[in-house]
Amino acid sequence: MRFIDNAPIKGKRLLIRVDYNVPLKDGVIKDDNRIRASLPTLRFALEQGCTLVLCSHLGKPKGKVVPELSLAPVARHLAELLGQEVLMAPDCIGKATESMVDELKPGQILMLENLRFHAGEKKNDPAFCKALAGGLDGYVNDAFGVCHRAHGSVVGVLDHFALCCGGLLLKKEWEYLGEALKNPKRPFVAITGGAKVSSKLGILHALLDKVDRILIGGAMANTFRKAQGYEVGTSLVEDDLLDEARSIIAKARDKGVSLYLPVDYILGDGPQGEMTAGVCPYQDVPKGEMILDIGPATSALFAEGIRDAATIVWNGPMGAFENKVFSQGSFNLAMGVAQSDALSIVGGGDTDAIIHTLGIQDRISFISTGGGSFLEFLEGKELPAFKALQDKEAQ
Ligand code: 3PG
Repeated sequence: MRFIDNAPIKGKRLLIRVDYNVPLKDGVIKDDNRIRASLPTLRFALEQGCTLVLCSHLGKPKGKVVPELSLAPVARHLAELLGQEVLMAPDCIGKATESMVDELKPGQILMLENLRFHAGEKKNDPAFCKALAGGLDGYVNDAFGVCHRAHGSVVGVLDHFALCCGGLLLKKEWEYLGEALKNPKRPFVAITGGAKVSSKLGILHALLDKVDRILIGGAMANTFRKAQGYEVGTSLVEDDLLDEARSIIAKARDKGVSLYLPVDYILGDGPQGEMTAGVCPYQDVPKGEMILDIGPATSALFAEGIRDAATIVWNGPMGAFENKVFSQGSFNLAMGVAQSDALSIVGGGDTDAIIHTLGIQDRISFISTGGGSFLEFLEGKELPAFKALQDKEAQ
């Protein structure tokens, strides 16, 4: 696949699709990792004398203008990080924006307003795509987080450019998630957590074909334990997936993959609540109690599971980690991954937040900026953005 460092972009006027879908509260950016992750591409393009027009979505405004979901705070923050002015457009298409694009000089940066203020973005509407591409002569996709969406700025807009390529962030994601996992060093250990088995079914099946061990924590594990006949109290569980969980357990056994499930829990009265009965073995969960974290024996078991790993892929927390009393299981695991000599690849917003809260990001080999796209890519699905870029290259 063609990337920006191998494309004739010198002096071009580029539309760069970034993923600045960052957590915002009262106009303040709570986590700027995705913005920082785009800087190498932006700096590279600026060094090549390009003019940059950046576009992104933010949140789910459903085709309407939602002032709280304006990208203006993101543009201000980007200006601080780059140490140069970032102009803000009033919209992503339309007359006023077109004029701003036309007046841009080499080295200048314009941030377009939230793409999803227009229904045409999600619908991949040809007229929207044409308008978005107006006045520009090259397209760069550096938005890995949205590569699983067949949206206008990811797919349709490529029809209007002869020059299309991936950015440096996309290149990194492609190399780590794609190339590095094709022939992983073994033992290869996958860790999955988070709330739902349903959102991870595809990846669980795909991983069972590749890994040597799989560690399952978080509320997902409740469905597996219930499928084995254990009481899980009032905990989050997906009753319609008990058979599926049993078939995953059977598949792991048939394939010789070691499947690790929690052996103890921390119980509480709700994700935002307090610890109640404290540590509890997995066989003894009382009917009225809720599982909210893995317990110390599980942390020790999981630490053993990753001790000699050569490759680790991790997605999803072990419990309700945003509440300090239920964070220890996720934090213990993160420290174990950070201390391991394995090639460690981590993805998803919650997992990323755990790593950054602990300040151990430099000890992880690669932190993907993708959530859904990370899972779909690992699952082996063809991402619409990659297909669009590859089709363009083949033309
Ligand atoms: C993400 O945060 O995972 C990406 O920005 C995609 O966002 P979406 O799920 O709203 O399409």
